[in-house]
Amino acid sequence: MKSIELHDKSFELYIDKNKIAGRVKELATQITNSIKSDKPPVFIVVLNGAFMFAADLLKQMDINADISFVKLASYSGTSSSGKVKKIIGLNEDIEGRTVVIIEDIVDTGITMEMVLKELSVFCPEKIYIATLLYKPAAFTKNFAVHFVGFEIPTDFVVGYGLDYNGFGRNLPDIYVLK
Ligand code: IMP
Repeated sequence: MKSIELHDKSFELYIDKNKIAGRVKELATQITNSIKSDKPPVFIVVLNGAFMFAADLLKQMDINADISFVKLASYSGTSSSGKVKKIIGLNEDIEGRTVVIIEDIVDTGITMEMVLKELSVFCPEKIYIATLLYKPAAFTKNFAVHFVGFEIPTDFVVGYGLDYNGFGRNLPDIYVLK
């Protein structure tokens, strides 16, 4: 099994790029078929972690849509700090529109709940959540997570956009902490 070192930790291969690509393609079809709206939807990509997933996902979707990139406070280390900042960078008017939030991972759900709260203020018609990874055992909230690439245990993962203290985002595969 392929292993990598990032900072002081070792990680082993968990989900390879071919498996990711196959699942991303399925998700793209699922999302395209589920979005029923008169107006073009707005995809809101949560940076930094979702950049790679969003690029691959959106390339597979043959629809007219606005794409916006927002940023939040970052996550440090291998456990959620629970502290998050406000959304910055939302330039599109989302009132009355269908919004699809694109995230890399939903862990406890604290971050996503904050994103939902902030976006709701602008009165979108409907908000969907698309996340590559979801840790159901860590999830403490009760909102629906509509489109999930892979459900995973509460292990810490890196790669394909996800980092460990800044490193690992560029890896094409997903690795899990040993
Ligand atoms: P939550 O608020 O606990 O749901 O955490 C969400 C954020 O924590 C994600 O957007 C990631 O930035 C980070 N995160 C959670 N789990 C992991 C992981 O396994 N690897 C890397 N980052 C993670």
